[in-house]
Amino acid sequence: MVLARAFILATISLTISLPLRTDSFRALFAQGAEANEFPLPGWRPNQSPLHLTDYVGRKVCAQCHPSEATTQPATPMAHAAEAVGDCAILRKHPHFNFRLGPFRYEIDCRGNRCIYSVSDGKRTLSTPILWAFGQGKAGQTYVLKWEESYYQSYVSFFNDTKTLDITLGFPKTTPPTLEAALGLPLSAEEAPNCFGCHTTAGVNRGRVVTDHLIPGVSCEACHGPGARHSAAMKSGHLRKTYIFSPAELKPDELADFCGACHRTSVQVQVMDIRGVANVRFQPYRLEKARCWNPDDSRISCLACHNPHEQLNEDPAFYDSKCLACRRIKGSVSSSTDHFGPACPVGFRNCVNCHMPKYALPGGHFKFTDHWIRVVKSDESYPF
Ligand code: HEC
Ligand code: HEC
Ligand code: HEC
Ligand code: HEC
Ligand code: HEC
Ligand code: HEC
Repeated sequence: MVLARAFILATISLTISLPLRTDSFRALFAQGAEANEFPLPGWRPNQSPLHLTDYVGRKVCAQCHPSEATTQPATPMAHAAEAVGDCAILRKHPHFNFRLGPFRYEIDCRGNRCIYSVSDGKRTLSTPILWAFGQGKAGQTYVLKWEESYYQSYVSFFNDTKTLDITLGFPKTTPPTLEAALGLPLSAEEAPNCFGCHTTAGVNRGRVVTDHLIPGVSCEACHGPGARHSAAMKSGHLRKTYIFSPAELKPDELADFCGACHRTSVQVQVMDIRGVANVRFQPYRLEKARCWNPDDSRISCLACHNPHEQLNEDPAFYDSKCLACRRIKGSVSSSTDHFGPACPVGFRNCVNCHMPKYALPGGHFKFTDHWIRVVKSDESYPF
């Protein structure tokens, strides 16, 4: 039981909230507090403050920040949760079937309503899907309500097969009862964690509150609630912005900031998540690289990713990022800026060899190992 629990935690429903690295935590708050009287006490990217009415939604931000507001809504993060009517996967596949031992699963969509049901041939349990969690690059899990509790569906959509299969992290054995086959209830601690990472303004005082919920990671998930900022900017009071900008965070603070949802190094170490399961926790992997330097912005998450834009999947895109610190044969000489010898093997598409991809068992998806390194041909996954 303990083992099964640990496995579930280590995979998709990792739900324990642990402190960030204390220094970064303090710095994050000190910066906001001094520079902008913000973030609000208790605010973190995956936790909402006391007043959910302080959230204004992306359309308001778009009035003054058109470039971010044009590209960000198309990112997978913005679709980390979707209402059924907005869910591209359920629109494309309005009907799913899946058999698991004696149980038959069905998802049946009509208009903006999708019914998830499981039957053992004698009895059928049916309930509407409330939200689709995960934009579906790897997979998509359905959040349901059953007897006053939120549930995650026992079966999820997987993109590689375009069908349902057992949700990642769930036991591969046949569930003992029809009720258990429906899904796993989310405990009072788990539900707010899921909603905290996959929605904006969906959690208040440690509880899921849906009145102001914005599905997905929207502007205010990372910048904090924007009512005061928007009002101040509208009235021309530009001296204080009253909104949080992660632009000035150091690489280690930023790794913790993104890590609030992607998991921090400290979390992975405290929970002792070993083996290939930790490949999906980029802050932890990146901080193991010899390249890592908490004070050098050339190796921060933002050096390679713009959170307002789509993930770039062209390996050549990252060459200039590597070459900001590294050299290629015959180019700039070794200096404090460009350290170490040049690569004796390749001069382009560096990430293909130095950031290999790994599949998670049952995950139907390959993650990119952010432990940048020379990969030995005979090595087993280092952790
Ligand atoms: C009425 C126009 C307006 C609206 C609405 C608005 N902003 Fe701004 N925002 C501004 C202006 C102007 C600045 C630049 C202030 C400066 O640089 O002094 C700014 C700055 C920012 C910054 C940088 C803050 C800093 O201290 O560096 C962030 C982040 C930001 N806005 C996010 C948002 C988000 C998120 C929303 C929606 C919740 C939003 N803004 C709504 C006008 C607006
Ligand atoms: C509020 C939680 C949250 C925060 C904060 C957050 N992310 Fe994410 N991010 C997610 C979730 C959830 C997904 C998965 C979206 C999906 O595929 O459904 C994701 C996905 C991504 C992806 C994958 C996109 C793809 O094409 O598969 C990248 C890259 C990413 N995040 C980078 C970042 C960076 C960089 C930061 C920090 C600046 C950050 N994230 C902060 C929740 C968050
Ligand atoms: C600590 C933050 C966090 C919590 C809690 C969390 N997730 Fe996620 N989830 C993420 C991030 C970040 C990603 C993207 C990277 C990855 O797949 O690990 C993700 C990815 C996913 C994906 C795959 C998305 C895709 O596009 O393929 C699904 C499905 C998912 N989560 C469902 C859930 C469900 C259901 C819960 C609650 C039972 C949950 N998550 C809890 C942060 C979280
Ligand atoms: C996943 C986290 C995340 C989300 C979601 C997000 N941002 Fe940002 N935003 C950042 C980070 C990190 C920076 C600092 C780096 C940069 O400038 O790209 C930033 C910077 C900004 C800035 C510039 C601040 C400056 O100091 O120059 C503005 C304006 C802004 N964001 C607006 C938005 C708006 C509007 C949305 C929604 C449409 C949004 N952001 C969604 C993380 C996020
Ligand atoms: C040196 C460049 C680099 C840095 C720094 C970097 N990444 Fe990435 N990241 C990549 C590459 C390359 C990919 C894979 C792109 C592809 O092929 O899909 C990627 C993919 C991702 C994904 C998608 C899931 C996956 O594993 O493929 C997430 C999420 C992500 N990065 C988050 C982060 C976070 C959070 C940080 C900071 C802790 C970070 N990255 C720092 C290069 C970088
Ligand atoms: C085809 C695969 C491949 C590509 C592409 C590649 N490398 Fe390498 N790289 C290797 C291998 C293998 C080694 C180890 C060579 C050895 O130890 O003899 C290595 C070694 C290195 C080293 C260590 C040098 C030393 O002696 O300490 C650095 C730094 C490096 N690569 C950077 C890069 C950069 C930057 C790029 C892109 C411009 C790149 N590599 C492209 C495979 C590759």
